[in-house]
Order: sequence, then structure tokens, then C-alpha cells
Amino acid sequence: MMRRVVCPGSFDPVTLGHLDIFGRASELFDEVVVAVGVNVAKQRLFTADERIEMLREACADLPSVRVVGFDGLLTDFCADQGAVAILKGVRSTSDLDFERQMAQMNAHLTGIQTIFLPASSALGFVSSSLLKEVAQLGGDVSAFLPDFVNERLIARLRG
Ligand code: PNS
Repeated sequence: MMRRVVCPGSFDPVTLGHLDIFGRASELFDEVVVAVGVNVAKQRLFTADERIEMLREACADLPSVRVVGFDGLLTDFCADQGAVAILKGVRSTSDLDFERQMAQMNAHLTGIQTIFLPASSALGFVSSSLLKEVAQLGGDVSAFLPDFVNERLIARLRG
């Protein structure tokens, strides 16, 4: 049986932290479905299509990773995909508190399990929102993004 896991997020934009998690997830499962939230309330810097396109390019060398947009409940998407689990990276205890709340709600909804992988130590302080803030103020965050994403981020922030 194909063991498929879902890695959900907004990925605005994808970082090396996300890619590290996808690579590690792809060693544990037959297929990794990266699920891009297309209609969540948060204000986004990149459109859903742009986020998906950047993810596809960034994951091109990970053959078992598939990038898909989703709307509605994550648990419904997971059922549609036939996923056995949700997998997320966690950086900190505050991440864990929030992620645990979502994991328990998702387990309540359909019984799906959530797996947490600790962020790699070198990437434990990397988040899309922090990279956007620093880049907006002229700081160099190229160490934490694929080169083409860093360029797109700088271009977008320049307007
Ligand atoms: O990048 P983020 O903000 O951590 O992504 C959060 C996301 C998209 C994974 C989360 O908001 C989500 O699962 N949204 C889908 C709607 C849903 O199922 N909400 C209830 C979660 S318990």
C-alpha cells in the first residue's frame, strides 16, 4: 500500500526550513503531498498560484513530493488524498502548543494522526514571516531561501 503523508502550510514563500522537512518526510513515506492553503484568512505576500509554482520548482529534485492547493478542512483534504498522516515541522515550544491544538482537533474530526519533526538546528529560527520582515527592511535572508525565491521575494517587496 502506498503510504502517503500530507505536509500542510501557507508557504508564503517556501523556505529551506520547509524543504528540509519535505526531504526528511520523503525518507519516511512513499509520497509527500505538500498541501498549500489557498483560502486562509491571513494576508499573503504571494498568491496561491505563485506559492504553488515556487514550491513545485523548489521540490523539482524531490521525486516523491507532489504540490497541491487545498481549500476547506485539512482533514477532508487528507481523506480525499488517502493520506495516513499529517506531518509538520516544529521549531519551538510555542509552535508545539499551537500545532498540538490543531493536531488534537484534526484527530477529533477524522482520527488522522499528526507527526512532528523537530526543525534542524541550523533552521530552527527560520520562518516565512520573519524572513519577509527582515527582507522588507533590507536585510539579507538569502541563506534561508532557494536563490530564485530570494530573488522573487526582493522583487515583490520592491513593488
Ligand atoms: O503556514 P501555516 O499558517 O502554519 O498553515 C496553517 C494551515 C494552512 C496548515 C492551517 O491553517 C490549516 O490546516 N488550515 C485549513 C483549515 C482547517 O482545517 N482548519 C482547522 C485546523 S484544526
